[in-house]
Amino acid sequence: MGLIIVSGSNRKLSQSERVSKIIEKIIKDQLDINSYIFSLYSNNLPLWNEEGYGSNEENIIKLKKNFSQSKGFIFVVPEWHGMAPPHVKNLILLLGSKPLWHKPALIVTVSSSNGGAYPAMELRGSSQKNSHINWIPEQVIIRDVKNWNPASSDEVYQRLVASIKVLNIYSNQLDEVREQLSDLDIKDFGM
Ligand SMILES: Cc1cc2nc3c(=O)[nH]c(=O)nc-3n(C[C@H](O)[C@H](O)[C@H](O)COP(=O)(O)O)c2cc1C
Repeated sequence: MGLIIVSGSNRKLSQSERVSKIIEKIIKDQLDINSYIFSLYSNNLPLWNEEGYGSNEENIIKLKKNFSQSKGFIFVVPEWHGMAPPHVKNLILLLGSKPLWHKPALIVTVSSSNGGAYPAMELRGSSQKNSHINWIPEQVIIRDVKNWNPASSDEVYQRLVASIKVLNIYSNQLDEVREQLSDLDIKDFGM
């Protein structure tokens, strides 16, 4: 399984969804790998709950299984109230550590104005400790997103394409890292 693109908005017709589709097309046209969009709008996930998920239990098992099969992720995250939306953090919490463990992920943030830095810093600063997700150094901020359209001459577009290619290289190489790490049999310092 190739890459999962997480569309991090739970708004209908969101810019995150639009950008996710652009990313899906770049992957299809320029890399020979599979990808699909996991939308936080169409997948209405429950809040993390230690008492279980009732009728949603099967969905959560399937969610973890699907993310476990992927080699890398692209998180398309809108800036809301100067932060990453809570449902993006909730997804990371729901997944726990196994599906994300030492897998590379690219952060792409979107803003209808001049923002986009806060959610990137928030994810880098606080989400990897237990999940062990490996945010790669590349990141892309798409500002004035409503007026942004992909064109090969556009610098943000070029940066996006290059960053996806970098992610793809990491996703191929970290297979080996995970294998070596599992041989180490290290304790999970969850807390
Ligand atoms: C609740 C809410 C809060 C927002 N706060 C910010 C913000 O702090 N900074 C910013 O640049 N844009 C903010 N926006 C605008 C988003 O950048 C804009 O909706 C953009 O299209 C990305 O979100 P989307 O993927 O849901 O479309 C906010 C939007 C919503 C719905």
